[in-house]
Amino acid sequence: MKTSEVDLESIEIMVRAFYATLVKDDLVGPFFIKVLGDDLGNGKWREHYGTLDSFWLLMMTGEKGYMGDPYMVHAFIGTLTVEVFDRWLEIFHKQVHSQFTPEIADKFYSKSQTIASRFMEGLEIGEFATDEDDDY
Ligand code: HEM
Repeated sequence: MKTSEVDLESIEIMVRAFYATLVKDDLVGPFFIKVLGDDLGNGKWREHYGTLDSFWLLMMTGEKGYMGDPYMVHAFIGTLTVEVFDRWLEIFHKQVHSQFTPEIADKFYSKSQTIASRFMEGLEIGEFATDEDDDY
């Protein structure tokens, strides 16, 4: 049954189910496997889950705990494209809508869209791309 309860328990379920699907995706999965490995039970993945649990708890409830800088992380994981972001968003949309009531799922999704858009702007991807060559 779909829930409107947003707490650590429902977020833990969401995060684990989302990454289990994401890692199998041939477009997005390799970015995670490269950094965290392909064994979703290893220490790096467990740490990642814990980080994302506290990240989504902060985003959705304001509960303090997450203290990282997600933008910096994504600047150094390889060449992200609009297609990679679109796939990430599509899988996230499916996950939150399968688990939460529509109003709550939309709240999760609209937050992820805003953040993805900010990442793309910062990384100069897609509509934010510039022609300038920054290498000199
Ligand atoms: C293009 C799609 C994306 C890819 C391929 C991607 C990939 C990754 C990878 C590989 C890590 C682990 C980095 C590490 O531990 O060193 C990571 C961390 C993270 N990602 Fe993403 N990501 C994507 C989009 C997003 C979006 C849209 C959000 C937010 C809605 C997000 C939120 C985070 C957060 C909060 C972390 C943890 C950062 C920290 O360590 O503090 N990611 N991502």
